[in-house]
Amino acid sequence: MKGAIFLFLVLISFSDTCLVVRSPSPVCKCPPIGLFNQSDVERNAGGYYLGNRPTWHPVVNRVVNNENVFGTQPRNIGNLKCELHTDGTYQWYFHGYPMFDMSLGCQEDTDSCSCPEIKGNSESGVTLTERFPDTPDQCYFYEGSCSNDSKEAFVYSKNEIISTGTVTREVRFEDLLCVKDYDNNFDWYFFNEKLENVSIGCSTIKDAFGSDEVCACGAFPIITTVEQLEKYDKTNKYRGRIIGANSWTPSCAFNVTCDDGYVGVVFSDSNEPVELTISSYITCTYNPITNYLRIWVVNSVRVLNPAAACLKINGSFN
Ligand SMILES: *[C@@H]1O[C@H](CO)[C@@H](O)[C@H](O)[C@H]1NC(C)=O
Ligand SMILES: *[C@@H]1O[C@H](CO)[C@@H](O)[C@H](O)[C@H]1NC(C)=O
Ligand SMILES: *[C@@H]1O[C@H](CO)[C@@H](O)[C@H](O)[C@H]1NC(C)=O
Ligand SMILES: *[C@@H]1O[C@H](CO)[C@@H](O)[C@H](O)[C@H]1NC(C)=O
Ligand SMILES: *[C@@H]1O[C@H](CO)[C@@H](O)[C@H](O)[C@H]1NC(C)=O
Repeated sequence: MKGAIFLFLVLISFSDTCLVVRSPSPVCKCPPIGLFNQSDVERNAGGYYLGNRPTWHPVVNRVVNNENVFGTQPRNIGNLKCELHTDGTYQWYFHGYPMFDMSLGCQEDTDSCSCPEIKGNSESGVTLTERFPDTPDQCYFYEGSCSNDSKEAFVYSKNEIISTGTVTREVRFEDLLCVKDYDNNFDWYFFNEKLENVSIGCSTIKDAFGSDEVCACGAFPIITTVEQLEKYDKTNKYRGRIIGANSWTPSCAFNVTCDDGYVGVVFSDSNEPVELTISSYITCTYNPITNYLRIWVVNSVRVLNPAAACLKINGSFN
């Protein structure tokens, strides 16, 4: 079974363009990088939600002649290196962090204009601009800025707030996609998360998450109370579990360190809870789509709105 996935998406507007992959040298010790077609995307746990979109393999050494509204072609994926991993194997490292089982695919954003228009919450002081007003088939390339310098633009959905991990004052919402579901409805997604009643507004990380900004990636709250555990553990998998002492502080790259008999668990809006092992640390790294955004990564999996706790192994109240 395929494990962690990290789907690099290159959104393009012309079906005859794609990205160029320069084949690694034949002596490269790392696993081959997968090239995904549409059925691969459908069968991929993390990419499943994008399975309706026309997808094709990046074409090796193909000459790209069309101008692209999203970024110049060919695109470089910088800072991807083949390095010796702690387990003695060679793995791909993206900005110094190992990425296992990595694949690339090209997708056409044919549904870009089928979702409801996103409104900016003007009371919060947000200004939304279209990045490509001259390309009417590209509806979701918004850029947001806040009238108050100490605030940043967040995505608001029915039940939650999502920080984009922006490093610039003007936020580019690259992770906001209009996706056609398997039931043929069109929905807004932020990364792999389906949204409802989407709007964009300004706030601060502290006000929105009750916790400070870490390394431009957004908040990484430390769970210390039963109420917090209930809030973050949406599937109730760890309900009643005894919460241990935390001797860790989130930073750009950190370990969750817990007392003996306790395990570090990362909760997020995008994934099942992840139980950490000794060798798994958490990092804030580059969003593969753009250098302007950062993402939290745990065990090579991107997590949205993460929080972590030290929880007693096998020890619970009920
Ligand atoms: C997609 O690629 C997989 C291998 O990754 C291959 O088995 C399958 O036949 C391909 N499907 C199509 C429709 O090309
Ligand atoms: C800007 O936002 C900060 C943080 O919420 C707040 O403390 C400050 O008063 C705001 N400034 C203005 C001019 O509204
Ligand atoms: C979402 O928006 C619809 C239409 O504007 C509205 O009827 C509904 O009550 C909203 N739902 C929530 C949870 O805000
Ligand atoms: C996390 O802990 C492991 C094992 O002790 C260590 O090898 C690694 O360097 C640590 N990572 C960070 C970012 O502190
Ligand atoms: C926790 O319980 C499982 C199943 O009952 C058992 O296999 C495991 O050894 C226990 N772990 C510890 C640390 O007690």
